[in-house]
Amino acid sequence: MPTHPAPKHLLSISDLAGDLDRVLARAAALKAERARGVLKPTLAGKNLAMIFEKPSTRTRTSFEVAMNDLGGHSLYLSSKDLQLGRGETIADTARVLSRFVDAVCYRAYRHADMLELARWATIPVINALDDVEHPCQITADLLTMRERWGGRFAHHRLAWVGDGNNVLHSLLLGAAAVGLDLAVATPAGYRPQPEYVRAAEVLARDSKATITFTNDPKEAVTGADALYTDVWVSMGDEAEAAARMAAFHGFQVNDALVELAKPSAFVLHDLPAHRGQEITDSVLDGPHSAAWDQAENRLHAQKAILEYLLLPRAKPRRAK
Ligand code: CP
Ligand code: NVA
Repeated sequence: MPTHPAPKHLLSISDLAGDLDRVLARAAALKAERARGVLKPTLAGKNLAMIFEKPSTRTRTSFEVAMNDLGGHSLYLSSKDLQLGRGETIADTARVLSRFVDAVCYRAYRHADMLELARWATIPVINALDDVEHPCQITADLLTMRERWGGRFAHHRLAWVGDGNNVLHSLLLGAAAVGLDLAVATPAGYRPQPEYVRAAEVLARDSKATITFTNDPKEAVTGADALYTDVWVSMGDEAEAAARMAAFHGFQVNDALVELAKPSAFVLHDLPAHRGQEITDSVLDGPHSAAWDQAENRLHAQKAILEYLLLPRAKPRRAK
């Protein structure tokens, strides 16, 4: 059995819940430092292994650039090229990587495999997306909203239009943790998993956030401060593509839907987008789109996450 103290992992956005404000503030500071060209090599000497079972543009690139910008190093490991792909166990992979590197990020098909890696790793494991969560994405999304709302989440309403998927699960938990009101519109058969709804409702009790559900996108979007959509067919759901295309009819974020939100409303999309399906060109490329700032913020959020997990922090002093 492992004899090391348990490392801090980021498997779910709820692993950051009490510290989200601090992580977001640090991400904003790192963004400003990068703009001024005064970033410090806070992760010098640190190595990050990145195991990907699925494709990635943003997550992979932002982790690599984040490590590079902060003086560290990253290794991209396609699961196909690792012995993992030939049957070496996740536990043995975790034991070995823990002897080489300081943290591992993992994009997995199955959350059970994410938990197995974390069970045996003696270094932090970061969920770089699995079938039930995408916590790094939501950290960047909250940073994007924080910037546009002057640092305040309370009394702002975000409308989710689309699938009850991994991104929505993390958004439910993240929004509830920071006190953001969330109106969720999904087709009837595509609601988020009940355990994520229950966990978000528990967090929302403390933050006073509200969470509502509907099958009507117009109801969710009317008067909203921001909209968020994601693909109708996530990686791993390809076999259901035809049924999903039919079920999501009417859930497209287009100009008519955006028109129902506040005039100042902005539109989020974690990307990659399927243009013409869940979102139109005119919205994604139009004046309401925040998707490109959102994508950039992956970089600044990854840095704050890496520092949070990798740098020892001074213990708070006891009041005398
Ligand atoms: N949003 C996101 O995670 O993008 P990638 O799949 O390109 O990493
Ligand atoms: N829900 C999407 C997010 C991609 C970043 C997927 O899992 O494919």
